[in-house]
Amino acid sequence: MSKTLQEIRQEAEAKIAETLSADVLDEIKVSILGKKGELTQILKNMKDLAPEERPKVGQQVNEVRKAIEEKLEAKKAEIKHIMLTEKMKRETIDVTLPGKKMMRGHRHPNQIALEDLEKVFIGMGYQVVEGPEVEFDRYNFELLNIPANHPAKDEQDTFYITKDILLRTQTSSVQARIMEGGDLPIKIISPGRVFRADEVDATHSPSFHQVEGLVVGKGVTMADLKGTLDQFAREFFGPDTKTKLRPHHFPFTEPSAEVDVTCFKCGGKGCNVCKGSGWIEILGCGMVHPHVLEMCGIDPKVYSGFAFGIGLERVALLKYEIDDMRLLYENDVRFLKQF
Ligand code: DAH
Repeated sequence: MSKTLQEIRQEAEAKIAETLSADVLDEIKVSILGKKGELTQILKNMKDLAPEERPKVGQQVNEVRKAIEEKLEAKKAEIKHIMLTEKMKRETIDVTLPGKKMMRGHRHPNQIALEDLEKVFIGMGYQVVEGPEVEFDRYNFELLNIPANHPAKDEQDTFYITKDILLRTQTSSVQARIMEGGDLPIKIISPGRVFRADEVDATHSPSFHQVEGLVVGKGVTMADLKGTLDQFAREFFGPDTKTKLRPHHFPFTEPSAEVDVTCFKCGGKGCNVCKGSGWIEILGCGMVHPHVLEMCGIDPKVYSGFAFGIGLERVALLKYEIDDMRLLYENDVRFLKQF
């Protein structure tokens, strides 16, 4: 025997009352109000009723449908509320917890050394200028007295883009650019990256940094060069540091010298840093070659100048007593944060 409307209603309401699942609510809805649902079935069977019965039954069915729908909606809202409350409980934030700390970066030892070095030269009235890393052979070699086939080109083999364009092997290229610019007097340093076709080892890298210095004016002498480097050494390595010029050769300076400073660790007595000699080589320098001045459009009879080139890694390694250049390029944070 088929269920009465009242039975359908009671059964549905009981089921709705005891569930807390949205899926079960859907099932109830389909089983009663769906296409093949129990109420729908009663409506379909209305044709078997006496015509005068039909409106009454129709009205009752509608009442039951409405009652069930209301219960379903109410339950749905209740479930939604419960889920939201639970979610909020799960996701409560303790605003009194300490925040996540921002990881602070750290300046690279190269950068620290460069900034220290720039400070010293800016203090002496120098301007800091930069030049391109991809450079013409003309500035990197030619105007520096290193014509094609000069043996110095072998020592500074590099990466060629074309026959005439290369990755610069030295920041000395900036000297030529600035002199050719023709603004005199000149008093600049030029830090930057340079490249050579070198294998990586504890003291070599195919890419490293130099800081070039150039002063051109009237009456500039070797004494000015020596005084400038003395001042730099004292400020950079410590007030008791002394310098020593050893004769050397560079194609673009005459005379040329290499400069040693007294070991900042032992003060000149000899130790592991200076390998027992008491001296450490830090740069190359000299008086700008008259032919270089001339090629760059400066009259060597009126003007003279000096230049120097400091290996940035070299002074950074020395200053921080690092014994392997590769450490500077590996960017291991545990290493970097020691400086
Ligand atoms: N450019 C030279 C090098 O890479 C270093 C150097 C020596 C630069 C003497 C100078 C200089 O300006 O006068 O070996």
